[in-house]
Amino acid sequence: MSYSIPAEKISEIKHSADILEIISDAVVLKKAGRNFIGLCPFHTEKTPSFTVSPDKQMFYCFGCGIGGNVFTFVMKQEGIAFPEAVRFLAKRYGVVIVDHITSTGVKNQMDERDILFQINRQAMEFFHHSLLNPQTGEAALSYLTRRGLPPRILTDFKLGYAPPGWNHLTTFFSQKGVALSLVEKAGLISRRQNGNGYYDRFRERIIFPIFNTHQQVAGFGGRVMDDALPKYLNSPETPVYSKSRSLYGFFQAKPFCRQTGDVFIAEGYMDLLSLHLHGIQNAVATLGTAMTEEHIRLLKGVSQKATLVYDSDQAGIKAAQRCIELFKAHHQLEDIRILVLPEGHDPDTYLRQFGAESFRNAAIEASGVFSFLMDVAVKKHGLSLEGKLRIIQEMEAPLLALTDGLARLSAIKDLAERTGIDAGAIQEKFRKTHGSFKAAPVKTMPEAGNKFEKHLIAMMLQFPEIIPDLIEKNLIEYISDPLLKSTGTDILSCFRKMDNSSEQINDLPSIVLMAVDTDEKKRLIASFSIQKEEWGIDGCRKLIGQIERNQKRDNLRLLRQRMKAAEESGEHELLRQLTQECLDGQVSAGG
Ligand code: UTP
Ligand code: MN
Repeated sequence: MSYSIPAEKISEIKHSADILEIISDAVVLKKAGRNFIGLCPFHTEKTPSFTVSPDKQMFYCFGCGIGGNVFTFVMKQEGIAFPEAVRFLAKRYGVVIVDHITSTGVKNQMDERDILFQINRQAMEFFHHSLLNPQTGEAALSYLTRRGLPPRILTDFKLGYAPPGWNHLTTFFSQKGVALSLVEKAGLISRRQNGNGYYDRFRERIIFPIFNTHQQVAGFGGRVMDDALPKYLNSPETPVYSKSRSLYGFFQAKPFCRQTGDVFIAEGYMDLLSLHLHGIQNAVATLGTAMTEEHIRLLKGVSQKATLVYDSDQAGIKAAQRCIELFKAHHQLEDIRILVLPEGHDPDTYLRQFGAESFRNAAIEASGVFSFLMDVAVKKHGLSLEGKLRIIQEMEAPLLALTDGLARLSAIKDLAERTGIDAGAIQEKFRKTHGSFKAAPVKTMPEAGNKFEKHLIAMMLQFPEIIPDLIEKNLIEYISDPLLKSTGTDILSCFRKMDNSSEQINDLPSIVLMAVDTDEKKRLIASFSIQKEEWGIDGCRKLIGQIERNQKRDNLRLLRQRMKAAEESGEHELLRQLTQECLDGQVSAGG
């Protein structure tokens, strides 16, 4: 692999970065012995199998098999390539990468993302000043005040105002010498139809900057101050903004979600600001889209539960059904609640009229997704015998989405209570239609090789000091499983390249991880490095002895076969040689 970033830099970054710190940003971790565990951000699970080892600076999920070092984590979490992950961490830990080496496409991409974030930040400052400057912002400011937002919220969320006119940003950025093609890429200006120059995207609108989890300005929303349409205009998809990955208010909400273990998910900009204003700070808003898998991934990193807040039954039903799709094959459904506000209210108007306490009480009463849908079905079909049968039919899909045995059992009980139909009968009906009611299987660790061979590789990673012994005895040569053998060979070649200082030796797993070429091997290495092994160095030596004996036994068996063949075909000279070999082998095997 060749990257434009020098190897020493990568190593410097790796040593400055703390995997625990980086992962804690996205996952709630608890200490468990020498390791830390939490819920895996890459698949849905209820009991933590995601393990981080600060000693080894590695992570591994025993549920889905994803693992690696700090670079791997950043790549997966941020959805970026290796060089970008390196730069991301370099910046975070203040390691300077001098770009004297010719740029690759990826490097350019990274630089461009940085530039787009900077452009967005400058635009945000421009809009913010336009709002606070009485000469330009008076009408906007009084609109926001009328809607109940105090100055504190305006500054905390960096609200702004895009004044009327077509050229504010083009002028602003031209004066700064910023290429307008980049400002266009940031989604702030558009090319004129006739091809001559650009015009501002946001005009005469209140501006809501959208931050990503790292407090970078990813995009904007803009609201008109009258009844013009569209009411809200958002940034287009850009290299730094994707609405399916963005949650308004997420950056600000993070610490509060962690604190409470809960998050409110509203639909609108104003709803989110109103929630904050009323002291409900563990809240985010999806912006004109339904919940996506990416949203859930982000939220899972900071909260175990979630309450979706909707302004009508219809919206709530849609969301609940969508949740079922999203959570199919997972088992987190029961941690999601649906709060439908009284007709005609969204969180903003509700809070203004009834206050925070009333909102919180309503939230406590909110139903889980399953019972919400059941209520909807009951309302729709009524409780005649025919209605009940329809209800059960309609609840089939949601019930199947619950893969957690206990959750499903309790849902069936609810359904039975609600319809007065025997729980056993309901269960029987589903068993008939769907065979066994099993949970969806999850991917596990790569299943390779025999037990000894696996132990051998794990040992090399966990006790590198035994490697010279393995080299001397040539044990890696004899591994039969191709994946394990090739991994073992990779470990040896890394080991040979190291100066044998103890600091370097402890780093072996991480060095090997970077050196191997396939994901399969990376997983293997992460899992073997982190795995809890009961045996210490003595156990290792015993294991080596055992493997040696096994190999000798196998060799002898092979020799005897060849001897028999030689005898049968009358090759006397060969037979003599083999017999000698066999005797030598037995002597050393016995001694
Ligand atoms: P709503 O129409 O419910 O607006 O849209 P709202 O949030 O209550 O806003 P106010 O109170 O009238 O100011 C809900 C969300 O859907 C997205 C926005 O994110 C909005 O906050 N939306 C709505 C758009 O993206 N574009 C639109 O034209 C309308
Ligand atoms: Mn509203």
